[in-house]
Amino acid sequence: MNNFEFSNPVKIVFGKGTISRLPFLIPSGSKILFVYGGGSIKKNGVYEQVTKTLQGWDVTEFAGIEANPGYETCMRAVHIIREKGIDFLLAVGGGSVIDAVKFIAAATCFDGDPWDIFTKGASIESAMPLGAVLTLAATGSEMNERFVISRESTNEKLSSASPKVFPEFAVMDPEVTYTVPVHQVANGVVDSFIHVIEQYLTYPVNAKVQDAFAESLLKVIYEEGLKVLDDPYNYDIRANLMWAASNALNSWIGQGVPQDWTSHRLGYALTVQYGLDHAQTLAILLPGVMQYMRKEKEQKIVRLGEVVFGIHEGSTGEKVQQTIEATEGFFRRMGLKTHLSEYGIKDWDIDALVEPVRQRGWKLGEHANIDWQVARDIFKLRV
Ligand code: NZQ
Ligand code: ZN
Repeated sequence: MNNFEFSNPVKIVFGKGTISRLPFLIPSGSKILFVYGGGSIKKNGVYEQVTKTLQGWDVTEFAGIEANPGYETCMRAVHIIREKGIDFLLAVGGGSVIDAVKFIAAATCFDGDPWDIFTKGASIESAMPLGAVLTLAATGSEMNERFVISRESTNEKLSSASPKVFPEFAVMDPEVTYTVPVHQVANGVVDSFIHVIEQYLTYPVNAKVQDAFAESLLKVIYEEGLKVLDDPYNYDIRANLMWAASNALNSWIGQGVPQDWTSHRLGYALTVQYGLDHAQTLAILLPGVMQYMRKEKEQKIVRLGEVVFGIHEGSTGEKVQQTIEATEGFFRRMGLKTHLSEYGIKDWDIDALVEPVRQRGWKLGEHANIDWQVARDIFKLRV
């Protein structure tokens, strides 16, 4: 196991009715910017719960954060914060709203052009305090320091991270996820499953705690993920999926182990160029990464097959193949497509899809051996 240092300072308030805890979590006297997305919270009662519990507080609303939050929208929020002297940010939504608020928190305090955070790796020295009310189990953003922002004018989607933007708290009431549309529920299951995979499916370094934890999460997400489609109002299923998704990307399982975020990094181009949802991009790419890197990842793929999919028969090569097929089969059972052609994307479109890898000179994978040409081969496997 490699050396590591980390802390996760997010206070979790989990369970039914927990939105009512907000007044005890936000510093008293705060001037709050209440940030949300396209309005789903107005249909499912979350907006009402938040406004009711914050009655008497100084609250300004900022609506309209897009799925795949846009830089331009975030910068409008920065302007309002400065104008109104806001001093606390409350994100109410899924990963998009929480990511947006993290970026807004950093951009407001940033000296210079905040886009440099993504393109030049400019460090975030300070950020505004923020809290989150999670409405969709998927990204783990409520419990981590990462954020992903898209910029229309440059046609880019880029990620960054800083300990300064950890939420101070995350309110997680599984009941508010009952209204998430089925395809978004499936997206959340696939996204969180792949978050675990990308910190697990590399090569063994004898990190027994991380491996056992990752395997438990994969089993829970796999089993409950299939159940939730038929039983969407089952509290226990929703609660387990919500907590699993947070743990899938809150740093615990990733400490001291090699990681491979290839599917994520390659997937952003599919979102920007073709408008695919984040998880839809991953369901296409991960089977390709597994196929292409099957030798390097052999031991972990076999273990994944045994522990999660119950694959015990056959030679090593056969087990690897069965596990790759079972993984893709899981995504399809969740209702996601797994090939580019199913979205009308053709072989000759691939060069443009690997352009960000070429342009930025990324070397991806646990061995940093996936350059733009290898990326192109992986995409080709997925036509
Ligand atoms: O816009 P609203 O009204 O909020 O509606 C959303 C949106 O249309 C809706 N929704 C959310 N909660 C709902 C609901 N509808 C009904 N009832 C509810 N309770 O669902 C749609 C999708 O929401 P979004 O927040 O976009 O989904 P998700 O949580 O999957 O977030 C995706 C974004 O997170 C980034 C992705 O790249 C993408 O931009 N990621 C962030 C990560 C992180 N911070 O660690 C890691 C991930 O890998 C990912 O890259
Ligand atoms: Zn993801």
